[in-house]
Amino acid sequence: MARAIPRGSIVADIGSDHGLLPEFLAVSGQCPQVFAADINPGPFERLQELEQRCLQVSALRGDGLQPLLHHNFTCLSISGLGGIAIRDILQREQSKLQDLTCMVLQPNNKERELRQFLIEHGWSMREELVEEAGVWYEIMVCTNKKWVGECTEANLMFGFSQRWRHQPSEFIGKWEYYKHGLIRAIHGLGKAQRAEVQGKKTDLLRRLSIIQQYINKAKLWKE
Ligand SMILES: C[S@@+](CC[C@H](N)C(=O)[O-])C[C@H]1O[C@@H](n2cnc3c(N)ncnc32)[C@H](O)[C@@H]1O
Repeated sequence: MARAIPRGSIVADIGSDHGLLPEFLAVSGQCPQVFAADINPGPFERLQELEQRCLQVSALRGDGLQPLLHHNFTCLSISGLGGIAIRDILQREQSKLQDLTCMVLQPNNKERELRQFLIEHGWSMREELVEEAGVWYEIMVCTNKKWVGECTEANLMFGFSQRWRHQPSEFIGKWEYYKHGLIRAIHGLGKAQRAEVQGKKTDLLRRLSIIQQYINKAKLWKE
């Protein structure tokens, strides 16, 4: 996350929890000021302790962008929340995003829904897949430039950075793992003939086929 944040940014980090990212950005000298915000009392107390020992960090408490409405910052970071939660935080206070040039987002899931929102609201994304201790992290570096390329189903599912080409090993690792989950879900639906179950199954099979197609592409790039 820190690598993706431009040096010298005034950062607002939402959902800071232990404040690891704000602390690193401040202590390393990468960023002169960091707002560390969290909705819950436990994390907020920890952020207040961080504020005491780290002059560049300001602890704030509240939901999403709410506590930041009267502060100026140049880069927004949100990591470790679900894609829908991140999307909803951005959607609720869109006016606060208007002057912003950079966002670094790391959704834990539902990347597709988050990408769709970002593309529809004038953002472009450069993305990176990072693996740590068997967990895959999607890091989205967003700039406020309208995406002018195609917005295909594959773009929404896998991102706009053609990682099957640029990070084939990581791409295969993440999507093989995801594919097995999908296969289990399809088996779990059983043989029920109800229209609702059949519709769900058709959708999962369609996704499975796209995933396999792009895993095959990544394998070709890897050779
Ligand atoms: C899993 S932790 C992620 C911590 C850190 N950002 C990281 O990536 O390691 C999620 C944090 O987000 C906070 N959170 C959840 N929803 C929030 C919201 N709507 N606004 C602000 N903070 C939120 C939680 O209290 C928790 O501390």
